[in-house]
Amino acid sequence: MYWEKEIETLERKGLEKFQVEWLMKSLVQAVNSPFYGRDPEIQRIVKSGLNSVEQVHELPFTTKEQLRNDFPWGFLSVDKKDVVRLHSSSGTTGNPTVVYHNRHDLGSWANLMARSLYAAGIRDTDVFQNICGYGLFTGGLGFQYGVERLGCLSIPAGAGNSLRQIKLMRDYGTTAAHAIPSYLGRLYEVFKEEGLDPHKDTNLHTLVIGAEPHTEEHRQRIEEMFGVKAYNSFGLSEMNGPGVAFECLEQNGLHIWEDAFLVEIINPITLLPVQEGEIGELVMTTLDRQAMPLIRYRTRDLTRFLPGTCKCGRTHRRLDRIAGRSDDMFIIKGCNVFPMQVEGVLLKLPEVGADYRIILATIEDQDEMIIEVEVKKEWFRGDLAFLDKLQRHITRLIRDEVLVRPLIKLVEPGSIPKSEGKAVRVFDQRIK
Ligand code: COA
Ligand code: AMP
Ligand code: ZN
Repeated sequence: MYWEKEIETLERKGLEKFQVEWLMKSLVQAVNSPFYGRDPEIQRIVKSGLNSVEQVHELPFTTKEQLRNDFPWGFLSVDKKDVVRLHSSSGTTGNPTVVYHNRHDLGSWANLMARSLYAAGIRDTDVFQNICGYGLFTGGLGFQYGVERLGCLSIPAGAGNSLRQIKLMRDYGTTAAHAIPSYLGRLYEVFKEEGLDPHKDTNLHTLVIGAEPHTEEHRQRIEEMFGVKAYNSFGLSEMNGPGVAFECLEQNGLHIWEDAFLVEIINPITLLPVQEGEIGELVMTTLDRQAMPLIRYRTRDLTRFLPGTCKCGRTHRRLDRIAGRSDDMFIIKGCNVFPMQVEGVLLKLPEVGADYRIILATIEDQDEMIIEVEVKKEWFRGDLAFLDKLQRHITRLIRDEVLVRPLIKLVEPGSIPKSEGKAVRVFDQRIK
């Protein structure tokens, strides 16, 4: 029933006592970094000590901008020689957000992943296929080490090549898999094209879906298509990656692991805690990370705590599905994109005019990012070969920046409709 019964079912008082102790350890560790080492509030609490978890409100927030500004080593709290891995956001210009781990951190992360998968009913008898980007994406190695810790037969399939994914499933009798929800529609279509039915032609019983927003209806559609139970998995690279919050067999919200993270939900404008059960921005503090502790990190994800207790007996609170973001980041094909990244690429090109817009659409069961780019008059009149070359050039630059190949449409100056007030750049028309 539980991977670690004692900690997963610890009553709230015990959990809070644990959190106070580990928050203090985290602060002591954090001040070893140049960034937190110069923070007077953190220094003060490290000296005076902590009495309750409520005192977390006395600490300053940490933002993505600060992570970027103090790139590359500003948040490192251990000796560089003890760091064994980093994960980093995409981007070829500007500073990425990078997170460092030492051996201890990777061990704790693998354990949280194993705990999460166990909560979703996955056991060491399962054959687990990880259909997700490896490399710097955290979903690849994050799931990999968790699945191995749990003891399943793991298939590190990676993203892409749907035919091969299906062959792997059938050759090795995959029983459980992880994939992003928007890709599963495409995978199902390829099953159909091959004259196969996932219900009859695979041993799948569980899918773990996450890394991007999706609705309850979308989950149900995935369950019907594949004849499985599908469990929501939430995480973000700044908090390791996957293994932060996970659904149990009850499928009624995501248990967030409160022995590893101190969790708050705040109003993103006033920065004060919201009323119990109200939607706000998720703020998280690592309790057990040594190489790079983060204090009150503003995730920008909007969600709420669900009321009541869970029938499974786990005491760690449950988050509702992510309702949106308090910034303009969107996710396409499992890759995070900030419109500023697209704009940054376009602005460097002398041929490109002042306007562009991004349309997210579902084309033949695949999500695509279409970017309409205004080309200056003198260049738009150029020959077709020139425009073709420009289109390919922009495609490559944007793909390198955001890791997804965009469909670039070059358009005449003035042809992009103007929005009233603040320019709206992103139009999300995807079928959800
Ligand atoms: N996961 C797995 N495969 C995906 C996918 C996804 N999110 N999105 C698309 N694909 C598949 C496509 O179906 C296609 O395979 P097929 O034609 O055999 O069916 C193949 O990848 C390439 O698709 P394309 O649309 O040309 O992709 P792209 O060049 O725009 O993007 C990806 C390349 C898909 C490899 C890249 O977007 C990626 O790595 N996505 C996964 C990100 C991820 O795992 N995020 C989770 C992090 S925790
Ligand atoms: P990354 O840091 O690349 O792993 O991306 C993390 C972001 O992906 C989060 O901050 C969320 O915005 C989004 N995300 C991850 N998991 C989920 C999920 N299960 N539901 C909705 N959004 C998610
Ligand atoms: Zn539960």
